Order: sequence, then structure tokens, then C-alpha cells
Amino acid sequence: MTKKAWGGRFAAPTDSQVEAFTESISFDARLAEVDVRGSKAHANMLADVGLITTAEAEQICAALDEILGEFERGEIELTPSLEDVHMHIESALIARLGDTGRKLHTGRSRNDQVATDLKLYVRDAIDELDSLLADLQRAFVSRCEDDLEVVMPAYTHLQRAQPVSAAHYWLCYCEKYQRDRERLSDCRKRVNISPLGAAALAGTTLPIDRDRTAEALAFEGVAGNSLDISSDRDFLIEFASCLALIATHLSGWAEEWILWCGTEFGYLTLPDAYTTGSSIMPQKKNPDVLELIRGKSAGIIAATQQLYLLVKGLPLAYNRDLQEDKLAVFAAYDTARACLQLAPDIVANAVLNREQIESRLEEGFVDATALMEYLIKRGVPMRTGHEVVGRLVAHCEAGHRRLADLTLVELQGACADIGEEVYDVLGAKNAAAALTSYGSGGMGSVKLQIAQWRTRLKDEPSQKKR
Ligand code: ARG
Repeated sequence: MTKKAWGGRFAAPTDSQVEAFTESISFDARLAEVDVRGSKAHANMLADVGLITTAEAEQICAALDEILGEFERGEIELTPSLEDVHMHIESALIARLGDTGRKLHTGRSRNDQVATDLKLYVRDAIDELDSLLADLQRAFVSRCEDDLEVVMPAYTHLQRAQPVSAAHYWLCYCEKYQRDRERLSDCRKRVNISPLGAAALAGTTLPIDRDRTAEALAFEGVAGNSLDISSDRDFLIEFASCLALIATHLSGWAEEWILWCGTEFGYLTLPDAYTTGSSIMPQKKNPDVLELIRGKSAGIIAATQQLYLLVKGLPLAYNRDLQEDKLAVFAAYDTARACLQLAPDIVANAVLNREQIESRLEEGFVDATALMEYLIKRGVPMRTGHEVVGRLVAHCEAGHRRLADLTLVELQGACADIGEEVYDVLGAKNAAAALTSYGSGGMGSVKLQIAQWRTRLKDEPSQKKR
């Protein structure tokens, strides 16, 4: 039986079921690297202020590095009796250094230690997600020039609405992921404030230097209230919320592409390597990866809820409930990262079925709005134009024709203001080309956006190259 670091006031050992119930080492071992980073900064600060000697700090830091190596190589036995990653590392340190090791926890508690670890971990996670999102944006932008001239129907209510360049779709996702990146970067500002030195909840009587540790850990500031620090998990909720929105965007994209690669749409063919077959139906090629990206978003979104529920009724300051925060955050992060690692290859390798798209492009009167706007340009009031085109659509529908099939006489019969050039906006491709407003799906507008995205993404680090 291991003697507990906090065992001084206890006469009886902890029940083994209690140890199994209260442990977190099975899920917080991944914090070992940040825990050692934090402990080294703390040890050096203790030496700076004279609470331990410089030689002791050096010994502690060297030993912590060795312990981390052993930890990462799986050479340290993980046991519920040592509760968590912090106790595993500290007990290995004490086993190695004796009394010197027993000094590390001076002026510190696991409460500010775990908050520090989580902030360091989440800060790294944010940086990794940011570059994964940039990779995904790059995958979309890389398709744009090739697909610029492909005109596709765009939908509202899943009914054909207006035609746009396929590249407009790709850049739509870039915008969403850009906002996700901005949210992460905003979240990072609050993550990057040091909790270290709050000790258990009240601070300490010892002359610690919190600025010193904050600086060593590249935090941008020091949190101001020790009670707040040991209870604050806002940063995890914010981070999980960022993940939830990323997951929502991934899920929406997956859903769209699942539809597109079905026979009913037939717009897209997914690469074999990213699809799976059926155990009974030989012809099947299923978009399981996209379906799982859509499906896994549920767990990521749920993590935000889990964290809110965990925190909402807690009294100040640290309560053991908070140990559960890691389960939600790590699971959500792992899942989001796995989705983001797969997505760029799917985006890059999916084949747009241009002929299939083109063969049905003229269905659904996607040029009706362009015709109405042509009338507006000829001085027809908008509502009148809407009415006129509506009647023409009904007329065409009855005769199984397209607007572009109507003769000038028929068109002028509906509205005397129509001239010969009307045929320049009729037909899906013409209607797409006629879109000129900033941010629209017309070729000129999209070309401008492609150039802006290329510049924006050019100098950013790629996760792949890291
Ligand atoms: N494993 C604990 C957690 O993750 C560390 C903090 C424990 N603090 C305490 N006072 N028991 O929350």
C-alpha cells in the first residue's frame, strides 16, 4: 500500500474501491508533459525567491525531465493509489531525490497545478487546431481555380434557387472555418492567463513570485483572485464551445457532401480510400467517413453541455467534481482533431462530376431571379418583375420548357420592356455570370475572393509540415 502524500492525518488506509473511484490517472496521464513544464517553472521560481536553493531547483528540473522520459516510455507504473498525474510525478521525484523532492510542492496546491496544466494543454491544443483548420481551408482553396468555371445550383430549403460557381461553395467553408479560428484565438487570450500561485484557494503566506512563473510559462498575465482561479473552468467551456461550432461546421459540410455523392444528386464521387462497402450489397460505396464526422459531432457538442452541468452549481472554490472536466474536454478535442486530420484529404480528392452537374443544371428555373433583376434594370418595379417572372415560370412548367426556350415574342407578351439582350442572362451559366455584387457567387466576385484567400493562407504554418 502506498503512503498518501496527504496521509498525515489519516489513521486508516483508503478503501481500494474508493481509490478506483477517485483516480484520474487513467485519463489525466496525458498532462504529464505540461505538468513537468509547470513544475520546472515553479521550482525555478522557488529558487529565485530563496525558498529552495538553486542547486535544489536544478536537481528537481533534471529529475523531472528524466521522469517525463520514463513516463512517456511507459516505464512508470500507473496506479490508482497515486490518484493522478501530479501525484505520480511528485512521488517519482521524491523516490529519486528524497527531501529535495519533498520541497517542490512548496507554495502550490494541486488546485492551481491542475488549472495550470489544463491551460497549458488547451493553449497547445488551440494552436494545433488552428493549423489543422488552416490545412482544411487550404484544401478548399486549392480546388477553387479548377472548379471556378463549374456552375452549380445553390439551394434554399433544399430546392434549387440560384446558380453559383462551385468555388463559391468551397470558399463558403473557408469563411466558416475562419470564424472558428478567430474564436479559438479569442479563447486563447483568456486561456493564456496564469493560475499558478493561487495555491489551494487563498494564496500563500510564502513569498512566491507569480509573475516569474507566468513569464517562464509564456502566459500573458496573472489571474487576480485565488478563489476564482481554483474554481474557474470558463476557459474549458469556451474551448469546448469553439470545438462544438467547429463540429457543427464539419457536420454540415459532411451532410452536404453525403447528399451530393448519392445517386439522386450525383455531383461528387468520393475517393475509394475514404469510403466503405456493404457486407451484403455488392454495388455499395458508402460515405461512412463523412457520416461519422457528422455523427461524432454529437459527442463534441455534448461536451460543452457536460461542462456547463459540471460547473453550474458548484460552490467556491475547488471541488473534486472538477476532475471530471478532463473527460469531456479530452474526448471532444480528440474527436475534433481526428475529424480535422481526415477532412483535407477528402476535400482534395473528391471528384466533382461536371457532366452530371451540367446535364441537369437547367432544371429548376435557377435563372428566374436573374431574369427578374434584368427587368428591374429596365425600370420595372421589383414586385412587378417578380410577378411577371412568376407567371413565365408557371407557363414554362406547364409546357415543360425552360425560360431560355421562350421566344422574344412570348417574353415580350409577358412584359413589353424585355429586349433581345434578355438571352444574355437566361440559362444557368449566364445567370451565374450575371452575379456581380461583392461576395456573390459569380465568377468575377469569386475570383477576387480566391486571391484574397490565397494571400491570407500563404504564410501560415501547415500542420502537415510541422
Ligand atoms: N486530479 C485532480 C483533478 O483533476 C487534481 C486536483 C486535486 N485536488 C484536490 N484538492 N484533491 O481535479
